[in-house]
Order: sequence, then structure tokens, then C-alpha cells
Amino acid sequence: MAEKMINFNEPPIISSGNKYVVDAIACGKLSGDGKYTKKCSRWLEENFNCNKVLLTTSCSMALDMAAILCDVKPGDDVILPSFTFSSTANSFALRGANLVFIDIDPKTMNMDADLLEKAINNNTKVIIPVHYAGISCDMDAIMSIAKKHDIFVVEDAAQGVMSTYKDKALGTMGDLGCYSFHETKNFSMGEGGALLINNEKLIKRAEIIREKGTNRAQFLRGEIDKYTWVDLGDSFLPSDLNAAYLWGQLEVADDITKKRMHIWEKYYNAFKEYEKENRVELPNVPSNCKHNAHLFYIKFKDIEERTEYIKFMKGNGIACTFHYVPLHSAPAGLKYGGFSGEDNFTTRESKRLVRLPLHYNLEDEDIEYVISCTKKFVEMIE
Ligand SMILES: Cc1ncc(COP(=O)(O)O)c(C=O)c1O
Repeated sequence: MAEKMINFNEPPIISSGNKYVVDAIACGKLSGDGKYTKKCSRWLEENFNCNKVLLTTSCSMALDMAAILCDVKPGDDVILPSFTFSSTANSFALRGANLVFIDIDPKTMNMDADLLEKAINNNTKVIIPVHYAGISCDMDAIMSIAKKHDIFVVEDAAQGVMSTYKDKALGTMGDLGCYSFHETKNFSMGEGGALLINNEKLIKRAEIIREKGTNRAQFLRGEIDKYTWVDLGDSFLPSDLNAAYLWGQLEVADDITKKRMHIWEKYYNAFKEYEKENRVELPNVPSNCKHNAHLFYIKFKDIEERTEYIKFMKGNGIACTFHYVPLHSAPAGLKYGGFSGEDNFTTRESKRLVRLPLHYNLEDEDIEYVISCTKKFVEMIE
């Protein structure tokens, strides 16, 4: 019988979030772009040095907006890793694009930028780097290849809020960046996200697409005297209630990140001896990256060892979970795209990877318990 139950994830509970939700209700403006939506987007713009941030109802919807803004059409190719969530692919496949999956670098689980040139052809419209675990892709290499071939870059930074690459916030280097504020992320509004618009040429149209294809944003700023339907669009605005809940967390973003880093480092330090002895593999953070401790993973020898570990931890009341099942071999992946080059690492590495509990509400004694159970397991498999 397990001594205690430890959840894999819990949303951060910040008491000021409740106060702001009550205030948002009192303000009487619950639809999009109210007081708290403005506070959150301004905070993101200022802290991450970004031209324009628009809150959305999810990262998936920010990716949908990105696909529209890049004018993705049937016949276009988009390049992405196969080791990612379905949303990275859906937004572009929905617009008729052909998905070109490339292999990952096993050290970071991120797209291998060295494979990009081979995957590019005259139809390539967009490259989508996914910053796995909040650890940046090789953005200098990706941006210079994209520039050379005149291709859009849309960063899927769903997991990357508060992470940097060479001191630049993730999501601010490509033409567009997409954040997730889903319940499972470091900062949550239940369901939510943001589109970061770094390419100034796309800002005006982004506002229109987000407001059901109308120029309402310009009207509200007093720039025009009536608003009308000017382009295609959809309703991508979150309620101000959700933004109010998020604001309670952004205000203490450094504290939340510090707490998560504390947990991440405890895990890392506890298991690094095992890595030296080649018994497991741990995340690798390139020296030019700062990460946000979004998740902590261990890679075991193979899927059998990983399955045993998950079972062992569950028996001890600890929820550990694997992650993405590669998209290229999934039914929709086979239908809407294909793998470019060899799958040397995507399938193999995804089968070995398991994530440990990591959330704001974890206490030191919980972390110690996860560590001691993991150590027991690793000693057992020897
Ligand atoms: C890499 C990646 N992109 C996009 C998403 C979708 O985020 P959301 O749930 O906010 O739509 C996720 C969700 O976990 C993700 O991991």
C-alpha cells in the first residue's frame, strides 16, 4: 500500500488569482480584451521584449492564427518535429499543408537543425521549432536557414514561458510565437494561450483575425468610426475571467519559476550519478539556454524498463507518465504528411522517456519520496 499519493500535475494555486477573478466579475466586462487581458498582454510584451502579444483561448488557437497569418495553403510544406503534440500539426494540416517531419536531437528532444536544409524545397512555407521541456531549439541555426530560404518561423513555445535562448525569451525570435496557459503548464488560465507577433508586418492582420475578421480592435482604439468585416477570422479571444486568474500567477512568475527550478534541480542532482554510470539519461540544457523547469524526464534503457518504472512508481502512489507518441506514425500523421530522412531518434527516444511529478504545490518531502522510490527502482534493475 502506498504511503501517499503524488499527482503528476496540479495547477498552481495562487490565492490572489481568486481576488482578481472576483474583481473581473465586479468590473462587469467578462468578454475579451478587458482589464486583465490587457494587464497580462502588457506584462508579456514588457517582460519578454515582444512587439505585440495577443491572448488566445489556447496555444492550439494561437497556432491556428499563425497558420492563417502565414497564408498556409494546400500544396505548401511545413517542417516540424514528429515528437510533439497534435496541435503543432493540426493547425497547418487544417489549411491543407503537407507535414514534413524531421528527426530530433536526442540530447534535447528538439528538432535537429542540421536536417533542415535537406527537408526544404520550393514549397516550404513554414518551419515550426518546438521547444521541448522549455529548453530552446538551436534558434540561431534555424533562423539563419529560414532567412536564407525566405521561410516563416512559428515557434511552438507552448512549454517555454519564462525560458530564454541567448537571453531572448522563447517565442520572440520567430515571425510568430505561441504560448500555452493550459492547466498543465507553468502558468495557467485553465485553457488559454498567447500569440506573440514579432514580425511587425503581421500585427494588423493578427488583430483582425482574432476578432472574427473585423477591424474592431482599431475601432475600440478610436482609430476608425465604425467597424466591419474585412478578412477571414474567428473568435480567438479568451474571457477576461480566465485572464484574471492568469494575472495572479504572472505577478509572481519569478517565485513560481524558482519553486519549479528547486524541484527540477533536486531531481537532477539526485540522479546525476546514475547518468554518469550510464544507467539512465537526464535532460541536457545547452549552455546558451535558461529553462523554466517545465518538466523533468528520465530516459530508461528501453520501453520495457520504462513501463516497469511507471508500474513501480504507481504502486508507490506516484504518477509518472510518458509523453508524445510520434506523430509521423500516428493515423493522422500518415495521412497528412511523412518523415523526411531517417527516423534515428524520434521513435527510439520517445519510448524511453518518462516524466516525473513536477508542479508548484509539491513539497520537499514529496520530492524526497519520488527520489527515494526512483532510486529503489534503479538499484533494483541492476
Ligand atoms: C508542444 C505543444 N504545442 C501545443 C500544445 C497545445 O496547447 P493548448 O492545450 O494550450 O492548446 C501543447 C499542449 O500540451 C504542446 O505540448
